[in-house]
Amino acid sequence: MTAKLKQDEPDTRNILDTMKQGVIGKPIPRVEGLAKVTGTATYAAEYKIDGCLEGVMIQAPFAKGTVTAIDTDALLAMPGVVAVIEDPRQTARAAQGTANEAPVQEPMTVTYYGQPVALVVAETFEDARNAAAQAKLTYDIEQVGSFDPQDVEAEVQEDSATRQGDLAHAVKTAAHAIDTTIHTEGHASAAMEPHGSIAEWDGRNLTVYASLQMLNYNITELADSLDLEEDRVRLVSRYVGGGFGSKLGVSEDVVAASLAAMQLNRPVRVVMTRQQVFQTVMRRSESAQRFRFAADSEGTLSGFGHEARVSNLPQESFAEPVLQSSDFLYKGENRLLELEVARIHRMTAGSVRAPGEAIGMPALEIAMDMLAEKAGVDPVELRIRNIPDKHPANGKPFSSHKLEEALRQGAEAFGWDGANRAPRQTRDGEWWIGTGMASAARVHNVSKAQVRVVLAADGTARVETDMTDIGTGTYTILAQVVGEMLGLETDKVLVSLGDTAFPRGSGSGGSWGAASVGSAAFVACNAVRDALCEKAGINTDDAEFKDGRLNGGKTFSDILDGTEIDRTGEYEPGDISEDYVASGFGAFFAEVRVNRFTGETRVTRMLGAFGFGRVLNEKTARSQCLGGITWSIGAALTEALLFDPKDGHVVNQDLAEYHVPVCRDVPDCEVIMVDERDPAASPIQAKGIGELGMCGGAGAIANAIYNACGARVLTLPMTPDRVIAAMPD
Ligand code: MOS
Repeated sequence: MTAKLKQDEPDTRNILDTMKQGVIGKPIPRVEGLAKVTGTATYAAEYKIDGCLEGVMIQAPFAKGTVTAIDTDALLAMPGVVAVIEDPRQTARAAQGTANEAPVQEPMTVTYYGQPVALVVAETFEDARNAAAQAKLTYDIEQVGSFDPQDVEAEVQEDSATRQGDLAHAVKTAAHAIDTTIHTEGHASAAMEPHGSIAEWDGRNLTVYASLQMLNYNITELADSLDLEEDRVRLVSRYVGGGFGSKLGVSEDVVAASLAAMQLNRPVRVVMTRQQVFQTVMRRSESAQRFRFAADSEGTLSGFGHEARVSNLPQESFAEPVLQSSDFLYKGENRLLELEVARIHRMTAGSVRAPGEAIGMPALEIAMDMLAEKAGVDPVELRIRNIPDKHPANGKPFSSHKLEEALRQGAEAFGWDGANRAPRQTRDGEWWIGTGMASAARVHNVSKAQVRVVLAADGTARVETDMTDIGTGTYTILAQVVGEMLGLETDKVLVSLGDTAFPRGSGSGGSWGAASVGSAAFVACNAVRDALCEKAGINTDDAEFKDGRLNGGKTFSDILDGTEIDRTGEYEPGDISEDYVASGFGAFFAEVRVNRFTGETRVTRMLGAFGFGRVLNEKTARSQCLGGITWSIGAALTEALLFDPKDGHVVNQDLAEYHVPVCRDVPDCEVIMVDERDPAASPIQAKGIGELGMCGGAGAIANAIYNACGARVLTLPMTPDRVIAAMPD
C-alpha cells in the first residue's frame, strides 16, 4: 500500500519532535561504517563475477572533428581481445550526459578532447589496455579558433535574468559604489572512487553494478540510450565512494559496459582510470563575474548587480547557475542579474559540488568585503544590514531565514573583531596574519521520493529505496527517522539502498537527499503507525511508540502476531516549493597566514555557522560541513582545472597535479549548527546540508588574505604567484 503526501502548506506541528525514542538528531556513528572500514562494503567494480571480461575505452586525441574509421581488425588480432565496440551513437549520447535529448550523430562526432569513441573488450584488463593504447583511429580534425571562454560568442540565459530599476544610475549616484570583476577557474569533482561498472546480460534483462548518485533517473537514461524498456534494466549502487555531481548522470563506462555485455552475452567490467575521469567526466565551468553595487553612506544597498559568464559545449543545456543565491541574498531595489554561456570545446560542464553558489558565493562575498571597506562598516554588520525581509525581486516570503543568527553566533564563537579592519596589522616573522568572513547561502531543493517501510513480525523494521548513500550518511539518517517514528533503536532498523528493485527515491544530489527520502520514510512510518494502532485497537494520536512497545505495554511483535505491516511512503513537494523561497544560510570565519616573500597561504583557523533546518544526525551533518569547509580551502588556494590553449586537453588530470586539500592543509575547524525547524522546507523540517559548507567559504579566505597582507586577489584559486602579484609593496 502506498501512502502519499504532497506538501502544499508549511507543517508547524514538528511531529518528529513529539516522538519519544530520542534517536533523531543524535550523533550516532554511520551504520555502514564497520563494513566500509573492514573492506566488506562492496563498491561497483568489486563484485566478483565469473567469466567477466574487461573493457578499456579508446578516446579521441583531438577536440573537434569526426572519427571516420577505427582499425578494428588489427585490434581483434591482438592477444586476448574479444571485441571492439564502436557504436558511436550510444557512447556519444551518454558521454554528453543528455541521453534523453541529444540527436543521433553520424558520423562519429567529437566535441572535446578525450571523448570516448570506442571500447576494447578483452579477457584481461592488461590485454584490453594494451590494445586500446595501440588503436589506430582515422579522423578529420576541425580547427577550433579558441578554447578560451572570454574569446568566443556567448548567449544570455534569459530565464535566470533579473532586470529591475536602473542599476547604472544607482551606481553613479551612490555614496559608495563597487564595480569589480572576479574570475574563478574550473573544478573537478575528484571523487575518491573512480567511475566503474560491471554489466551482466541474460538475453533479456540487464543488471549493472555502477557508481551512480541518481538511480531513479539513471535507469531512464540508460534504458533510453540502450533502447530497452526500463523494467528490463536493474541498477545497483549500494556504496558510492563520493560523487559530488560527477555521478548524477550515467557515465561512459556504464553505457559502454552495457553495450558490450549485450553484444557479447558475457559480463563486462569497465573501470575508468583517474586520468579518464578527469578527461571525460563533467567539469565545473570557470567563471568571470562582475559585481556592481550601489550603497548609501551606511552601506545599505540600493543597487545590486551580478553578471557572469560561464561556458559549456555548444550542444549542452547546463549553465553553472552562479546567480542562484545572489538572486535573494541581499537588498537592492535596482537589480541586474545576468548569466551568459560561452560555447567552447572543453569537456562537458556540469554539476560539481554545489553548482552555482560554490563559485558565485565566494565571488559575491569578496565584492561585499570591498564594499565594507569602502563604507567603513564591519563586514558582519554590512551583511546584517542588507538582509531583505522578503525576496528582493519577486516579493516571495522566506520559509525560514537564519543568516543573521549564523553571522552573530559565528562571530561570537570565532572572536571576531570588526572594529578595525585595516590590512597588515599583524605579522609573525615572514608571515602576515589576518582574518576574514563571508556569508553562506545555498538554495534548498527537494524532490519526489518513495521509501518502503516494513514492520516485521519480530518487531524490527526494514527500509528499502533505490536512494544512494554517496558517503553523506543516508543509511544512518534513514535508520534514525524510521527509528524515531516507530519507536525503535537504530540497530533494529535495517536500511537497504542503491537497488532499482526497490521503490524510487530522490537520488543523491543538490543536497536534496536527506529531506526528500527522509520525508518519504516519515510518510511511510505514519502509515505503519496507523496500521499497528488499528490492530491494537487504539487511536494513533494516543499512541506512544518506544523501545519496540506500544504505550509501554505490548511489544510490536505481540501485536503483529506473526503478521507484518508493509507500507510505501511517497513524498512530493507541492505548491510550497513555489510559494516560498527556501535556502540554507550561514557564515564563515577564517584566519590565515600569508608568507610575505612567497605568497604562500596557510589557513590556520576556520569556523562555519549554518542554519539548515532540522539536523537529522549531528555527526554526519558536522562531517558534511567539515567536507564543505575543506572544499572551500581547495577552491580558495589550489583547485583549478587547467586546459592546453592549443588543443583544449586537460593538463592536470590526476590528484598529483590537481591539488585537493590534504590533512596538512586543513586546520581544526569549528562547526556551529544553528537551531532551526523549517516548516516549509519538508515534512520533517530538514533542509539540504552538504553543499552549504562550501558556498562562500573561499570568500572568507580571500578576505582574510586581504586583511593579512593587503593583497586583494581577484582570481581564484589564490595561488602564491597571484597573491604575490597583488601584494602591495
Ligand atoms: Mo551535488 S553537484 O550532486 O554535490
